[in-house]
Amino acid sequence: MLDDLRALQEEALGAVQAAADDAALDAVQSSFLGKSGKLPLILRAIGKLDPKERGPVGRAGNEAKQAIEAGLATRRAALIAAADADLADSEWVDATLPAPEGVQTGGRGGSIHPITALVRDLEDVFLSMGFETLDGPWVEDDHHNFGALNIPKDHPARDMQDTYWLTDGNLLRTHTSPVQIRAMADHKPPIRAVCLGRIFRNEELDTTHENTFHQCEGFFVDRDVSVGHMVYVLKTLLSEILGGEAEVRLRPSYFPFVEPGFEMDVMFRGDWMELLGCGMVHPYVLEAGGIDPNEFSGFAFGMGIDRLVMVRHGIEDIRHLMSGDLRFLSQFTGGLEG
Ligand code: DAH
Repeated sequence: MLDDLRALQEEALGAVQAAADDAALDAVQSSFLGKSGKLPLILRAIGKLDPKERGPVGRAGNEAKQAIEAGLATRRAALIAAADADLADSEWVDATLPAPEGVQTGGRGGSIHPITALVRDLEDVFLSMGFETLDGPWVEDDHHNFGALNIPKDHPARDMQDTYWLTDGNLLRTHTSPVQIRAMADHKPPIRAVCLGRIFRNEELDTTHENTFHQCEGFFVDRDVSVGHMVYVLKTLLSEILGGEAEVRLRPSYFPFVEPGFEMDVMFRGDWMELLGCGMVHPYVLEAGGIDPNEFSGFAFGMGIDRLVMVRHGIEDIRHLMSGDLRFLSQFTGGLEG
């Protein structure tokens, strides 16, 4: 029987090597190792052996099984590697080459999305004013999105931001303000940071409401920071983005994480346009971030980016922005080719 086992193992390994694809390997596996395969068939006879012989034959049976399984695994891996190598050869493309003469490119070049374009412009202005750009996660926890921003569990301000809650108790960030909290966790004052990114609210969709949109958060903490510094920074920013010297006004407003809080309007084509919320960072927020409010003060602001993009390009429906519709997007290529 030991000879039978050895012969079987050799036969199986030969079949494994000869198998050219996954299906063939499956067939080899079931014909040798399957329930009514050749190996179990031999092993079933062990019971009839002299008790002294059972041990060595059983061990040899196990060894044969392991050798065949190892052979199968190695062959499977080799087949996958070969398929990958073939694919790399046959599908290889030099994406930097121009399309060969006569090949249709659909007449369209790639383009920068108008939101990305504005984000880049804003980042340039902030960098020139000494701000650094920070990122934060889209999936936030209650503490960063609300609690540490002085919006405790039962606070009515939570209702202003219809929240997508996740089943694990986390949420999709409803604003970029949580990045203030993250900035304080790994920076000591002076802090000059901005975060430009995507936010999510469970809104009824219409021409001015989307459930996925973008904000620009600014955060400035140092000694003796005042409302005057805030107005200067915001006015400079808006002048750069809108061109000319921006005319702005502050209206008192309320946000739990600033005190006093304001909204800023900018004069645009003869009308006041409401653009952003801002204010002096609330002492609770500084404290929650480990910064002594008696020693430091700061300002913060949050500005809707999509709104500004709509104004910039005369877009009448916010839903176009995230639609991915090429008829819309191709207007921002700087013209179709050809
Ligand atoms: N996070 C606010 C919102 O989404 C906007 C905002 C208002 C941000 C005032 C600020 C601020 O930093 O100071 O409605």
